[in-house]
Amino acid sequence: MLSAQDNEALTRVGPGTPMGELLRRYWHPVAPVSEVREKRIVPVRILGEDLVLFTAGPDRLGLISRRCAHRNVDLSVCSWIDDGSLRCAYHGWAYDAEGRCAQQPFDGASGDDRFREKIRVDAYPTRSIGGLAWAYLGSGEPPSLPDFEPYGWRRGFTEISVTVLPCNWFQCHENGVDPVHFEWLHTNWSSVQRGPHDRSYGPAHLAVDFDEFEFGFICGRELAPGNTNMRPLSRSNSVSEGGILCVWPYTLVTGQTIEWRVPVDDEHTLNITRQYSVLPDDQPPVSLDPGSIPYWYGPLTDPVNGRVITSHTLNQDFAAWVAQGAVARRDREHLGRSDAGIIRLRRRYLQEMDRVARGADPPGVVRGPGDSVQVELPIYMKSWFANGVSPEKFRQLHARIKGTSQASDGYFSVQAGRPEHVRRLFAAAAGVPAEAAH
Ligand code: FES
Ligand SMILES: [Fe+2]
Repeated sequence: MLSAQDNEALTRVGPGTPMGELLRRYWHPVAPVSEVREKRIVPVRILGEDLVLFTAGPDRLGLISRRCAHRNVDLSVCSWIDDGSLRCAYHGWAYDAEGRCAQQPFDGASGDDRFREKIRVDAYPTRSIGGLAWAYLGSGEPPSLPDFEPYGWRRGFTEISVTVLPCNWFQCHENGVDPVHFEWLHTNWSSVQRGPHDRSYGPAHLAVDFDEFEFGFICGRELAPGNTNMRPLSRSNSVSEGGILCVWPYTLVTGQTIEWRVPVDDEHTLNITRQYSVLPDDQPPVSLDPGSIPYWYGPLTDPVNGRVITSHTLNQDFAAWVAQGAVARRDREHLGRSDAGIIRLRRRYLQEMDRVARGADPPGVVRGPGDSVQVELPIYMKSWFANGVSPEKFRQLHARIKGTSQASDGYFSVQAGRPEHVRRLFAAAAGVPAEAAH
């Protein structure tokens, strides 16, 4: 159980709050690069701030306040890109990527620039890496952007799925240090959903353990024998073996996925998942052009019956987090032995908020050399992801999951809702006819 005061501290993200200040020391993913290239103007809400992201040049993004300084029109709705600026469609004021008012057509016609020069909206630095556009909302010099190892893997098909969840980000992040949930929320609940003819529970967790490394936490667990789909990790050396990684400030890294729980505000989270499906190694390596990584928005609820979708792994996580309430009541919990990782995670965030308040950088913030720094991660079975699999192994993997609810489009996905055009891109990358995916 946590005090209501500590619960507030862990969950509030606005400017000036302890967690808001900690989070503002990191870069945040705000949109897939392919989405920005397609739409050119994308609304962003992050850490309680309403912003608009726009293409200011061939390799340049702008991220500025969402509201026009003239009469508060939402620039993500009423604007167009004009010579590298974002021009408000209402009366034509234009803003550059630094948030300066570059033009005021009517007032500027007098030749007097003094009014225009006084106008300035908030603007934040942006960069791109890993197929995502990133923003820095803090003060001072931005740190380097972590270039996580999986961004360079070329033997898998990468897609980015996005879902906004009506709950606080921290309960989503806590899930990353909660290995027992795999057994119940994923294995056993999936089995139950398949029906009474197939109701077999997975192997039980016998023990859980946690280590901390430079960029976050690693979960170790010991399972009852009997299921090769699960990952039996040694408890004594989980960092060197690799495992499921819970990375500062809100990222889960499994190898197959990188999942960011970006705080939209105190009661909403932008879940961005970069899913990497390993390919047969006789296929050409995939392009690393970030614009070639397809994106899609995955639904939280079934459009037909309105219920929260629970068929896929990530949707089961969504269901649990949303079901904890808009902000989980940690002052009403009863934590047990399985929650050792969660207790440790909370303690570390509370400690780091204090350190940040005294001027220190929190863990995982790296400063130079360069705008980005390569970061190796202790990912379990890393070479498998990096090198691809034999065509025979690929066929076996997909034959095994075909027909299950998690492969509703013919191929496994961690999340429900993969659109047809992305399924076809996957089939092409895997060297199989698109029709074979069904
Ligand atoms: S409201 Fe934007 S120019 Fe008037
Ligand atoms: Fe999960």
